[in-house]
Amino acid sequence: MRPTYAVINLSNLKYNYLNIRRKIKDVKVMAVVKADAYGHGSVEIANALNSLKVKKPEYFAVAIPEEAIELRKHNIKQPILVFDPFNKVQAELIFKYNLIPTVCSVDHIKLLLKAKNNFASGKRIRVHVKINTGMNRLGIDSDYAFDFVRRISRDNNFIIDGIYTHFANSDERDKTFANLQLKRFNDLLNELKKEKINFGLAHTANSGAIVDMPEAYFDMVRPGILLYGYYPSTETSKSIKIKPVMSLYSVVTAVKKITSGETVSYGRKFKAFEETKIVSVPIGYADGFTRGLTNSAKAIIKGKLFQQVGTVTMDRIMFNIGNEKILPKDKVILLGKNKKLKIDAWDWADILKTIPYEIICGISKRVPRIYKD
Ligand SMILES: Cc1ncc(COP(=O)(O)O)c(C=O)c1O
Repeated sequence: MRPTYAVINLSNLKYNYLNIRRKIKDVKVMAVVKADAYGHGSVEIANALNSLKVKKPEYFAVAIPEEAIELRKHNIKQPILVFDPFNKVQAELIFKYNLIPTVCSVDHIKLLLKAKNNFASGKRIRVHVKINTGMNRLGIDSDYAFDFVRRISRDNNFIIDGIYTHFANSDERDKTFANLQLKRFNDLLNELKKEKINFGLAHTANSGAIVDMPEAYFDMVRPGILLYGYYPSTETSKSIKIKPVMSLYSVVTAVKKITSGETVSYGRKFKAFEETKIVSVPIGYADGFTRGLTNSAKAIIKGKLFQQVGTVTMDRIMFNIGNEKILPKDKVILLGKNKKLKIDAWDWADILKTIPYEIICGISKRVPRIYKD
């Protein structure tokens, strides 16, 4: 195995998950494991959560059917909701692998009915209806939602297993807009209840709402980033204790002495102003250590923090270690901690003007994952 690897700490995953469970009490959990569980490995994450037996998630969620197939092939039995719209081929996969599609337009209904005919399936199709309350990305607009839900509820081909919406900014301190979305959703549910239209499980809460909006829990919550040990922003409360699940390690492979005036890497973007030592580490932008981190990220080597220097290359980065006695094979902590120091995805995200989601999803397949309990 290459000496660059990510450690996925399953104890931390379970700690985060059980703390979410404690906070939401007897509300159900739909664990969001799309994008290969935000880069952690969806099968391993689902299996670890399922090892919690009676406390395991009631549902899983993915973005596309292909991600759910991976779970089904590894014997994950829970209902799996597919968030994204689907095409004809994907509609058939939804049938074949017993997945729950999200529907938010008449076209989705037509595609599902066609696939049902092709499968000669007598079974009713379980769906979750997505309501657009202000995110304006997907979902049936709340003004038309009542008629749409009523129509599906009257069609014997379908069972409405759930109804949901997605918050645009539940992770911001100011909850004015999230509360407006919540009101639109509640208004719809009240209308449906008045007409005795069954809509199954109602769910809205992503991580931001899970930490800060208990009134948005309804029947089920949908944690993503919290499971993996990060708050969705720096503005939420920390009402649930969490620990990062992924750490990233490598080793020193070469040490070079350079003199004042010499430069490092492509484009000569780092210039030494005194004699110093440069170590080279086998990770690069092809692994998710993106080029934007050039001359900015840090690593912990032998208990000290060192500055990354010179342009990040596809397979390799360099650090300026000054006069320190660091040798080939010494361990390099890129994301993780030792007794005194820590580097987490927020450190990279701040440099890159992004969020931890993108950092952990971006650690590429070339980096082996080692699962630790
Ligand atoms: C529909 C939906 N629900 C829940 C989530 C989980 O969000 P978070 O990772 O912020 O908890 C996502 C992620 O983007 C989503 O698209």
